[in-house]
Amino acid sequence: MKVSTVHLVAAARPNFMKIAPLYHELKRRPWCRPLIIHTGQHYDYNMSQAFFQDLGLPEPHLHLGVGSGSHGAQTARCLAAYEEVLLKEPPHWVVVAGDVNSTMACTLAAVKLSVPVAHLEAGLRSFDRGMPEEINRLVSDVLCDLLWTHSPEAGQNLIREGVDPAKIEMVGNIMIDSLEMLRPAIERQAPWEQMGLTPGGYGVVTLHRPANVDQPGALGEIMAALAAASASLPLVFPVHPRTRARLEEFGLGRLAQAPGLKLVEPLGYMEFMGLVLGAKVAITDSGGIQEETTYLHIPCLTLRPNTERPVTLRLGTNRLIKPHDLAASLEEVLAGRWPRGTVPGLWDGRTAGRAADSLKRRCQQP
Ligand code: UD1
Repeated sequence: MKVSTVHLVAAARPNFMKIAPLYHELKRRPWCRPLIIHTGQHYDYNMSQAFFQDLGLPEPHLHLGVGSGSHGAQTARCLAAYEEVLLKEPPHWVVVAGDVNSTMACTLAAVKLSVPVAHLEAGLRSFDRGMPEEINRLVSDVLCDLLWTHSPEAGQNLIREGVDPAKIEMVGNIMIDSLEMLRPAIERQAPWEQMGLTPGGYGVVTLHRPANVDQPGALGEIMAALAAASASLPLVFPVHPRTRARLEEFGLGRLAQAPGLKLVEPLGYMEFMGLVLGAKVAITDSGGIQEETTYLHIPCLTLRPNTERPVTLRLGTNRLIKPHDLAASLEEVLAGRWPRGTVPGLWDGRTAGRAADSLKRRCQQP
């Protein structure tokens, strides 16, 4: 039997829970030798290593050590470093996930050397080119050979852009695989206990988008809305390093000290999902949390003007809000007037199996 080597590219926090179930699935398949390539875009312990531990991933087989920098510098370092790896020992396939700078850089490096690339979570579009992730999605999808989508909307976006339908396969949402794989352990976490909270008695907040945190006006308005909202529901806010730096730089520490607002360090995957499981509501600008809350039927207030995940608005529990809508939306949640939503098709914990089958068909093609 021909054994195919497959690189799974992991770079930043939201990638780790997407590649973990696929790594475990491919590891069980005799035709496949999966290798994890960590680009090093995220490097802090609680942004990276803690996730590898929680998700049962081995040490990365290769670490590119790309680190932080401007978009151009980070992308360029990743492109050059991964090209070097590919020139030495090209795999049969590369799998990239999501929409971070490393996703685009590794796709570009591979396709230029004629190594085929599969994109996990393809076809998402916010139609907002001011978002760095939108550029990464557009470039990656146009270049990839296999596009794994998680919703009908994503497939339709690709078709509209002229992608060959033979390249598109709807496999479902792989983040739900991670959640289900670790669900018993997540349920045992109960991180609210040490925080003096009770399940259903608090909200969870995350914030890291440049549009929300990089301007003092925007971040100040959000922090003021959160501080006010925390008077009606305690809010736990694990703070992303980018956001932590901006809060200090803009002197917004006073707003962050509202009595109902609890700022904590970024949490590992299990602890964070444990916190979400017990939350009354999520207030976020993250992409993944919009999906996880839809799956868990937890109300999600997304502080963004658009989303690349419209299925969570159409079927799920997500709503786009502006900071000044926060109080009214929270009131609806607390009054029990929020729709419970339904879970999109193929968000069932079996996406990794479908992606592995799909990859096998391509790998075994002559
Ligand atoms: C990146 C992704 C974003 C994803 C997010 C999840 C891009 C364009 N953006 O944004 O899509 O939702 O990750 O977190 O790829 N930093 C640390 N430690 C780390 C990582 C970053 O301190 O481990 C700091 C650095 O100072 C860095 C800043 O955070 O300048 C931003 O990191 P970066 O990787 O550039 O982008 P994110 O904002 O994390």
